[in-house]
Amino acid sequence: MEEKTYSMPRIGDKAPEFKAVTTQGNINFPADYSGSWVILFSHPADFTPVCTSEFITFASLEKKFNEANCKLVGLSVDGLYSHIAWLRTIKEKIEYKGMKNVEVNFPLIEDITMEVAKTYGMLQPGESSTKAVRAVFFIDPKGIIRTIIYYPLSLGRNFDELYRVLIGLQTADAFSVALPADWRPGDDVIVPTAGSCGVAKERMENKTEMKCYDWFFCTKKLDKEDVFKTVLKK
Ligand code: BEZ
Repeated sequence: MEEKTYSMPRIGDKAPEFKAVTTQGNINFPADYSGSWVILFSHPADFTPVCTSEFITFASLEKKFNEANCKLVGLSVDGLYSHIAWLRTIKEKIEYKGMKNVEVNFPLIEDITMEVAKTYGMLQPGESSTKAVRAVFFIDPKGIIRTIIYYPLSLGRNFDELYRVLIGLQTADAFSVALPADWRPGDDVIVPTAGSCGVAKERMENKTEMKCYDWFFCTKKLDKEDVFKTVLKK
């Protein structure tokens, strides 16, 4: 029989659809999440130390992500009962960096057949052909993949960066701007490049509120409060 081939999902693609069993019941992805941002992330295996530190951190931050209209969905190629046992152990036994009694309330997908992991390019055989790498997919409310980050088995994710990416994507959409290196809410944002000689001249002659490094690279202020008012509706 011919082996099925999988192409890696890319930024701008529609998130591939799947139905799955999870620790919170069955899900139909991404339809069940329409209208919300979703972070779909994979981890290599249950009952492993890096993954445990990540799950405690993700669960502790879930409210913060939810407040930015973002739901979390985890996946590993382990089975449902292993997931349940691991999440119970996390709650009952693990204290990590002051986080204890942590309940994981977001769904953790069982993917014993590896079908979802293969579809999303989470299995990268150079790293491991039996364990998913640490993939992170940011999917927007219309079901479009907007950012993909991969980490290897040996390196836990940076959760400040995951939150920064989420807020950054929402800010870029809401204010029609781009965001410079290391941008954080409150930093200046990049305005679309001048589309005519007249606009380029005006910007270079300092006739606007913008700061221009050259005609094609201009920034403007965007207050942190305005970012959070828009993104977090606060
Ligand atoms: C871990 O999560 O600790 C881990 C999982 C797979 C390989 C290496 C580390």
